[in-house]
Amino acid sequence: MIQQRVVSDDFLGKWQQTTNVMAGIFDVPAGLIMRVGPKQIEVLVSSHTPGNPYEADEKANLNTGLYCETVMATRAMLQVPHALEDEHWKNNPDVALNMISYLGVPLLWPDDEVFGTICVLDSKKRVYQERYLDLMWEIKRAIEADFKVIEQQQKLINSNIDLRDANQALSLSNAELKAALEKISVMQTELLRAEKMSALGKLVAGIAHELNTPIGNGLMLASTLKSNAEAISVELEAGVTRTRMRDFIGGVDQGAEILQHSLGRAAELVSSFKQIAVDQSSMRRREFDLKRTCDQILATLGPAIRKSGHQVLCELDGDIAMDSYPGPLEQTLVNLVNNALVHAFPDGSPGEIRITAHQQADDWIEMSVADNGVGISQANLLRVFDPFFTTRLGQGGSGLGLHVVYNQVTSALRGSVLAKSELGRGACFTLRVPRVAPHDA
Ligand SMILES: Nc1ncnc2c1ncn2[C@@H]1O[C@H](COP(=O)(O)OP(=O)(O)OP(=O)(O)O)[C@@H](O)[C@H]1O
Ligand SMILES: [Mg+2]
Repeated sequence: MIQQRVVSDDFLGKWQQTTNVMAGIFDVPAGLIMRVGPKQIEVLVSSHTPGNPYEADEKANLNTGLYCETVMATRAMLQVPHALEDEHWKNNPDVALNMISYLGVPLLWPDDEVFGTICVLDSKKRVYQERYLDLMWEIKRAIEADFKVIEQQQKLINSNIDLRDANQALSLSNAELKAALEKISVMQTELLRAEKMSALGKLVAGIAHELNTPIGNGLMLASTLKSNAEAISVELEAGVTRTRMRDFIGGVDQGAEILQHSLGRAAELVSSFKQIAVDQSSMRRREFDLKRTCDQILATLGPAIRKSGHQVLCELDGDIAMDSYPGPLEQTLVNLVNNALVHAFPDGSPGEIRITAHQQADDWIEMSVADNGVGISQANLLRVFDPFFTTRLGQGGSGLGLHVVYNQVTSALRGSVLAKSELGRGACFTLRVPRVAPHDA
């Protein structure tokens, strides 16, 4: 099927000039450029010449015996000097407009499809000389050269459109990517929150469980004491013996002692729990010398250390001036040294605990508390920071020490803590904390 080619106004203007000049040179009333469509042929350009019966945009049906139809079908020049003298042409539609002579050539698009024709028509008999025929071919070639330009332009526009489409597709997939990323980050936050919630849930359950024993014991004792008191008050009416009274008082005394112990244990637990929640507002920030702080801690732990028989070595780079929270740092070191004293040397053989600290190039401090004791198994190493993880259950261990350490180091000091150990080769806890704690805490 023939497709109608699109021509821009620029070219229409140029061709208007060409057809005007052509009509002038050929000395005819009508010079035309025709464009063929699927069903019709139209006057694309009509010369502005006196007596021209054709107007631009006029259309004529195909298959009606037009001069141009023959030119397009044969793709050859057609010259009809006088239609009325020619049996084949005397009834063609243009005769009705008194256009009885015709000279026209086909216009071919660069892909060799027919675009239409260019022609001159006259109301009188015309036989054109050879050089006019040559001129007609030249004009045809000039217009076909323009077709090539038009096609190039069209290709450019199309590739631009392709580019734009590709660009659009790209930015679309970019947007999709961005949306996916956002979704992932939301999911991550949710996961993190869920994880924290479940950790919190476990912690609360653990706390409840731990407190249950001392409080349960206390409650039971209190109700025993109460019923004992009721019994003795009834007996008092009838008069009680000295022995009975002594037994009663002895019972009260013993009960009170156990009660005291239970409540003491509960209070101890509560104070450990309180340490878990790092209370930012009660933390005091100040400048302090790391070595001096360490020495103070060791002085405090002195009696326990001496009693243990182990050696604690403090090997700190001098002059590390911290600007941070000494409270959490002290608590952390106390917990780590205490752990070494309690867990590292179960058979009582004398051991060594070494504390080191270095200031690093990035202004962070790396501190370690290492011992040469029994070490921690790989399976336990993964759990030492979990709340309530202890290997001394029922022997005074609540499994909160390292959990507190972890919270203090990460939340208060804004650093990190790592445990390294192998069974039989000691344990080493390494902290990395900024020398100057960030102020946006
Ligand atoms: N230096 C160490 N050497 C060997 N094992 C250790 C050492 N430090 C910690 N552990 C192990 O890690 C576990 C957890 O320590 P954590 O301080 O959290 O609890 P705990 O000392 O058992 O109890 P709590 O500190 O609450 O009294 C300990 O029970 C112990 O098994
Ligand atoms: Mg401990």
